[in-house]
Amino acid sequence: MVEQAGSKNLDNLPVAIEQRIGELVARMTLAEKIGQMSQLSGSGGAELKRAVAEGRVGSILNDVNTENINELQRIAREESRLGIPLLVGRDVIHGFRTIFPIPLGQAASWNPAVVREGARIAALEAASTGVNWTFAPMIDVTRDPRWGRIAESLGEDPWLASVLGAAMVQGFQGDDLAGKGTIAACAKHFAGYGATEGGRDYNTANIPENELRNVYLPPFQAAADAGVATFMASFSDLNGVPASGNEFLMKQILRQEWGYKGFVVSDWESIRQLSVHGFTANDKEAAYEAANAGVDMEMVSTTYADHLPALVAEGRIDEREIDRMVTSILRIKARLGLFDNSHTEPTDFPALVNQQHREAARQAARQSVVMLQNRNRVLPLNSGKLNTLALIGPLADDPYEQLGTWIFDGQAEDSVTLLQALRDAVGNKVKVNFARGLVNTRSKSRAEFAEAIALAEAADAVVLALGEEAILSGEAHSRADIRLPGYQQQLIEALAATGKPLILVVMAGRPLTLTDIVDKVDAILYSWHPGTMGGPAIADILLGKHSPSGKLPVTFPNTVGQIPIYYSHKNTGKPPSDDTIAHIDDIDAKAPQTSLGMTSFYLDAGYKPLFPFGFGLSYTEFAYSDIRISSERPHVGSDIQVSALLTNTGKMEAEEIVQLYLRDLVGNVTRPVRELKGFQRVRLQPGEARRVGFTLTSEELAFYNRKMQKVVEPGQFHVWIGGSSEAELATQFELLGETVLLP
Ligand code: BGC
Repeated sequence: MVEQAGSKNLDNLPVAIEQRIGELVARMTLAEKIGQMSQLSGSGGAELKRAVAEGRVGSILNDVNTENINELQRIAREESRLGIPLLVGRDVIHGFRTIFPIPLGQAASWNPAVVREGARIAALEAASTGVNWTFAPMIDVTRDPRWGRIAESLGEDPWLASVLGAAMVQGFQGDDLAGKGTIAACAKHFAGYGATEGGRDYNTANIPENELRNVYLPPFQAAADAGVATFMASFSDLNGVPASGNEFLMKQILRQEWGYKGFVVSDWESIRQLSVHGFTANDKEAAYEAANAGVDMEMVSTTYADHLPALVAEGRIDEREIDRMVTSILRIKARLGLFDNSHTEPTDFPALVNQQHREAARQAARQSVVMLQNRNRVLPLNSGKLNTLALIGPLADDPYEQLGTWIFDGQAEDSVTLLQALRDAVGNKVKVNFARGLVNTRSKSRAEFAEAIALAEAADAVVLALGEEAILSGEAHSRADIRLPGYQQQLIEALAATGKPLILVVMAGRPLTLTDIVDKVDAILYSWHPGTMGGPAIADILLGKHSPSGKLPVTFPNTVGQIPIYYSHKNTGKPPSDDTIAHIDDIDAKAPQTSLGMTSFYLDAGYKPLFPFGFGLSYTEFAYSDIRISSERPHVGSDIQVSALLTNTGKMEAEEIVQLYLRDLVGNVTRPVRELKGFQRVRLQPGEARRVGFTLTSEELAFYNRKMQKVVEPGQFHVWIGGSSEAELATQFELLGETVLLP
């Protein structure tokens, strides 16, 4: 279940404050109200100061200079007619100065506590400069690794993204938005951005309403339930209506159905872009559609400032609606305590990138690493037996690239690289020789191969740090071919020819298709872009100080042509199995049309991914046994307990992420073959066993039916508990009774 934050329920502000806001709104001119609904970019200098003094701006973004921010807040307080403080926004996506793994990496930790702590530290560091609002968490479910923004996401699964997204909200906002070091969060991008066609950024999304409700909206509802202060409307076109002008999303779902009381900000110029989409003819109509749909604040473009006065005068927008919008913005300012104090003293805060923050980032990075392969137990490296290690690759000693996308305030100089960390860890016991092999990850030159091969030949083992530079993922950075770019595969092949044990560390912003190289390396550690402390975290794992424990938050395809590929797909009427698939190379000449059988697979890529969702290896082994269920014939509405025995049958203390999957066999709409409905991180000593239990309530069994009602239907269910979405240990139950509707 998603934990609730103390700041939940945005509608219970003390009466006195509500009254003060009401009085303030009553005193505001229409222009001042529209000013509060306008957000401008912070680099405006004198003009921005004038706008603040004249009450023409309610929020700024992208200024992190404390002196500037304090001066703007002073002007807002002392020189503007009503003295309303500013919201100061910034993209604090995976850390402020101390950079944590990219959100997709954090999701691989499956650890809400780690995610919450990362957001708490990010908020604390950001707040120390005067920032009081972040545009995070990004909780777009996405099933397309071509999309560059998958790096910012929490992966493909609505349940995982709900739990971790809510944890991020709690980390940023704490129990009290007015507390020191807490900042307002923003659930983005509402909604459907992750379904961007072909994985090309900003592209159209077409999502049937039923799928929208079952897959894409749950993380947003979880964020709303966790008390997220704001929402951001997406850039994208959803079913023909761009999100920034989408009444169905913002009025019907967000406000009417969910009763959301925070406010909605547009994305960067996304209101003006309604005309670029071809949804409106000009800025005035764009302002009308966005305001009418319920976008409360406009980011950067100025259609509200330019056209809302006329739209109100013409009676097309009711000023009472404007009052509601302004009130929702002022409420968040009140919650942040800005009316009492909007001045920031950096010295009141702990230092940026201090030791404690570094340690938290190291732990997060360590738990984010997913071990995808470990042939012949080549890992962990036994530093006692090694004399020489070759560390090769353009990402082995690059303090900037390991930080990943969206690190406006991160600094390469704070990073500890893998080279430095390995050398620090092994001292003079092991010689760590380094060669880049390639100038960068896109390089198509073999010029540095010879040096790398020579180092490999002289070493006992080779660690290769490859992947993607930071610029290859993130906003507007989609890729159509998601193999290792440049000549990285050629470098792997050249090093494999030395016959030395090859350990591949991948730093990347997305799942890459590794099919061509998976057989050429002995071990693979997938560390995503691991952040400031990536080096020490990966070294901890390479050297066996900690076992890898991350699990994939997203499916790894064999080839790009399989996309979208995700574990929680539908069964189809002709599901494949290993007996029904044929390979293109094995087909007889002139084989008759139906001779291969008639099931749903690719002749050249089967139907399975390279690595499934939830998968990740450990240095120890975990065995699952003895699954138990509280009742095989429970009634609709009753809670069901399911548990299994987890045993550490290996030789090392380690953590396992125990996952529970459910299948509702028959539904009013077809149901996925499996859905994640619970997980727990469990630490066990060698030989230790523990029963791990889950409770299934009506929430876990519910789905949206053809009429878009949230229902629990009676019938047969299967349940699996195990270490990935391919878990085999299963039980089942028959839910008795009648269909019930849930709120
Ligand atoms: C992105 C948002 C971001 C905003 C402000 C946009 O381009 O889509 O995610 O918060 O810029 O920087």
